[in-house]
Amino acid sequence: MAAPFSLANIQGDILYVGLPKQTQLFFFFEILDVNSFRSQLSKLVPMITTAEQAQNNRSDIRKFKVQERKQATQGDGETPHPGTLRVGGVNIAFSAKGINKLGITDANKINDPLFQAGMLKEAQDLGDRANPDKPGFEPEWDTEFLQEIHGVILITGDSHATLNSQLEDVKCILMKDNNHTIKEISKLVGDVRPGNQRGHEHFGYKDGISQPAVEGVDVDPLPGQTTVKQGVVLLRRDGDEDNGQPIARPEWALDGSFLAFRKLPQKVPEFDTFLRENAPTVPDPTANVVDLLGARLVGRWKSGAPIVEAQLRDDPGLADDPQRNNLFEFTRGKQQICPFAAHIRKMNPRGDLDKPENSVNPHLIPRRGIPFGGEVTDEERNTGVTLHERGLYFVCYQSNLSKGFSFLQRLWANNAKFPSPSPELPGLDAIIGQTTGGGTRTITGVISEDTNQPFDLTAEWVISKGGEYFFSPSLPALSSTFAMV
Ligand code: HEM
Repeated sequence: MAAPFSLANIQGDILYVGLPKQTQLFFFFEILDVNSFRSQLSKLVPMITTAEQAQNNRSDIRKFKVQERKQATQGDGETPHPGTLRVGGVNIAFSAKGINKLGITDANKINDPLFQAGMLKEAQDLGDRANPDKPGFEPEWDTEFLQEIHGVILITGDSHATLNSQLEDVKCILMKDNNHTIKEISKLVGDVRPGNQRGHEHFGYKDGISQPAVEGVDVDPLPGQTTVKQGVVLLRRDGDEDNGQPIARPEWALDGSFLAFRKLPQKVPEFDTFLRENAPTVPDPTANVVDLLGARLVGRWKSGAPIVEAQLRDDPGLADDPQRNNLFEFTRGKQQICPFAAHIRKMNPRGDLDKPENSVNPHLIPRRGIPFGGEVTDEERNTGVTLHERGLYFVCYQSNLSKGFSFLQRLWANNAKFPSPSPELPGLDAIIGQTTGGGTRTITGVISEDTNQPFDLTAEWVISKGGEYFFSPSLPALSSTFAMV
């Protein structure tokens, strides 16, 4: 019988829409001295933002914004200047190597082979590129992800100042004076994009519109939002099962979640050039065919409007309406409007499969990514070549990696035949589908008048540079099992 469910026990990035953030720092570390780390960890636990606090922080931000707007309209008539409430968050998660290093009892019984092996072992199966200079297969990843990482501290905030002051507090506990219980492996910072691109990823498409609702947590789901069992996200909760049987896990795994982290640089000028040069004509001369091609590859327009409900032109009103922006289904077996290979159709084939409660719902993942890197410069726009790295720090949570991130990337995004059976060969996910060799991916469904016509995506515009699988323990597990009092 599982312990009663409490938001105060769960780390804040996992549920609702995660830790509120304008900016986020990922601090990857190696544990140096196990005993002193475990004893210092007990001092860090009170700093960890719980799901309950994250929810309160969001409601404070909402109230603050209403107040600001009121003050601005009642004020001296100057242009309203939306401020930001100072809000920070801290979460922590461990890799399998980190958990083993800590010497936690039953570490090997967590029962997720992909987590236990680590992402590096799976790089080839995920379709990540091979380093041509290395014999055998070594992925072409950034060096920090090729070495042993024991954990990651996630720090979020309204500003870099808030990030830095929280980082200093964390360091004060774990890296004080000569007592360095951990060593920094790498520190990555992501930022919400500026101005009207806020909430949009670097290709320009609004992100974070579709998230699963979690049973008993998101009690008032929006129209079109799927509610999943708690155990799809949290270990040892209802739905953390295989073939209808609960998966055996140690007690300390309760209310924890596996965090998949990926560094995904995006070739934005190259993607834009491809859209400009390859946009097929359509019978309606008033359609913006460049934007239409992009919308067909993503499944949503840049505003976020689903192409299924806005077939020839963008509809920002629809995009901004939470009552309607997820209220759609694809027409099974047909791709006149949205190609089977469109990113959101591959990742959530609404209406495409039988028994979605079994075939789709266990694979829905809460996503918590943040863009990194600056805006495209004039030089990059003019030459069509990326000169400064930018992309997405992709983060998602699940109770089972072989049903969550790994499943989505390997069996749906990288699988040319999915969704099947389809009358036409769908091709790889147009945004994230990849093969270790890179190169051209051929999809169908881009030309509405002849949906079987092959359409070549001449490059991959999202190229993985590495990542790792982590376990984000519950607060009680952090205090009683991970830390040493
Ligand atoms: C740089 C890489 C990526 C970009 C640019 C990107 C972009 C987007 C965009 C624009 C959306 C639509 C907004 C929304 O529905 O919330 C979306 C949705 C989604 N993406 Fe990605 N994404 C990326 C990587 C990934 C990866 C690696 C996965 C998982 C393997 C993934 C899974 C999803 C899922 C599950 C959805 C929601 C689909 C739905 O429920 O309709 N994405 N993504």
